[in-house]
Amino acid sequence: MASPAQQPAQELATPQADTPPATILHRGKFRFPPGLRLNLPFYSFSKFFDPRNPILLFEYLAKFGRAAHYRLLWHHIVLLTDPADIREVLVDKAHLFIKERTQKRMRILLGEGLITADGETHKRHRRIAAPAFHRQRIQAYASTIVEYADQKSREWSYQWRPGRQIDVADEMMRLALQITARTLFDTEVTPEIHAINDESNAVMDMYNSLVSLPRAEDLLRWRIPVPVLIRFRRSKKHLDQVVDQMIAAKQAEIAQALREGRQIGGDLLSMLIAARDQEGTGGANKLSPSELRDEVLTIFLAGYETVANALSWTWLLLGQNPHAEARLHAEVDSVLLDQSGKPRLPTLEDLPQLPYTEMVIAEAMRLYPPAWAMGRQATEDVEIGPYRLPKNSFVFFSQYIVHRDPRFYPDPESFRPERFTPEAKASRPKFAYFPFGGGGRQCIGESFAWMEAILTLATLAQRWRLTLVENQTIALQPKITLRPKFGIQVTPQPRY
Ligand code: HEM
Repeated sequence: MASPAQQPAQELATPQADTPPATILHRGKFRFPPGLRLNLPFYSFSKFFDPRNPILLFEYLAKFGRAAHYRLLWHHIVLLTDPADIREVLVDKAHLFIKERTQKRMRILLGEGLITADGETHKRHRRIAAPAFHRQRIQAYASTIVEYADQKSREWSYQWRPGRQIDVADEMMRLALQITARTLFDTEVTPEIHAINDESNAVMDMYNSLVSLPRAEDLLRWRIPVPVLIRFRRSKKHLDQVVDQMIAAKQAEIAQALREGRQIGGDLLSMLIAARDQEGTGGANKLSPSELRDEVLTIFLAGYETVANALSWTWLLLGQNPHAEARLHAEVDSVLLDQSGKPRLPTLEDLPQLPYTEMVIAEAMRLYPPAWAMGRQATEDVEIGPYRLPKNSFVFFSQYIVHRDPRFYPDPESFRPERFTPEAKASRPKFAYFPFGGGGRQCIGESFAWMEAILTLATLAQRWRLTLVENQTIALQPKITLRPKFGIQVTPQPRY
């Protein structure tokens, strides 16, 4: 008899092409969706099982319909694909869930910051960081974003010669890193700051093998001499050093300002430090030194890498879709003009005049969501839609899967920014599109990310057309964020 690993398809309930009415498997007091009959490791040799690309597994599971169930060792895991069920987990029943294991294991990198914390600790951190992300405060960063995007454009101009190729994914990483450092942390972009990019790239490369190691946290703590752990410890130490330097420099700057009776800056870092130093609040608004460092690293990494990926995929899609590219150029060319009719740089006030630019980015994040999957763990037995799952079950949902559901996005593979007109958006359920998550843990940087992406794209697209280099391999690299595995090679062409 063929082993399940060789012929998994025969061991499975038949996946359905379209979402059928929910099929329910009753087991005692629980009701599970259909799915893989055997424990996941039995499918190790199946086409859909590739630890380097979990999207393949999710794509396979999505064919079961509204939800699919499988087991990994003794854990129950459910993939949800219906927006109503996702909403139940993230919004209506959020209090019955905590972050799932792999996200918690990010603690080895991020410590105890907004992304990894749960419960009261999370609430406290969110309360402290929230004022720095208020819309009005964020708006003050618009001119800095444009200044850096324009600097990138000038850099391309100086280096330009016919046929010169660049990796636009790498360029967007460096640009987003500079923007984050300057706006949120009011920090000079020194070689040390660039080290954040290099080290976080190294960490991303190690991430999947690390989270799959049993008890990676203990192995790291016990200083076990496994190469991947040694490399990880070195990168993490370097990241911590850079962040500590940044905090120390800012603290010195604040102390100097106070001595001179000057106001301190309204950047996020100053606000986090001020919160840490605030006395008389019974500790409610204070971050300990290690919490401060963890939060700075968390927001830094969460803030630049995601926006950079969104922009990189946008350039790929524009290169593949000349009609959309032409419409984008028409919009920026008509809006960004000075009184004498010459091109000028965008400003905050231009944002409402750039709806197509925003739609292009929204559609790019539909097809290539930088945060491509999310997960939670139930803290008690819980009902979701027609299912009832035991305490400790894991539920996952993937933006990559839901954003390509033909029920909400006909011809889902094609790039159509028109899917994001206000009317089209209103016709879909809320959680048919959730690049920034939802509920109480919705991305704190969402407004900032939109502003940064729109202003950067407008600034660069006004001056440049990026033609894709032919015969390159574009591949997905789904790690913590969805990156283009081999980058995206383009030839910049000046538009005027
Ligand atoms: C295109 C850009 C971005 C995308 C797609 C994105 C996506 C997300 C998603 C999906 C979550 C929710 C994760 C979950 O609930 O499990 C999240 C949370 C978070 N994001 Fe973003 N993000 C982006 C930009 C940013 C920026 C610019 C910042 C900060 C500068 C940021 C900081 C955070 C933080 C701190 C959290 C944790 C919030 C909490 O749990 O309270 N993100 N992001």
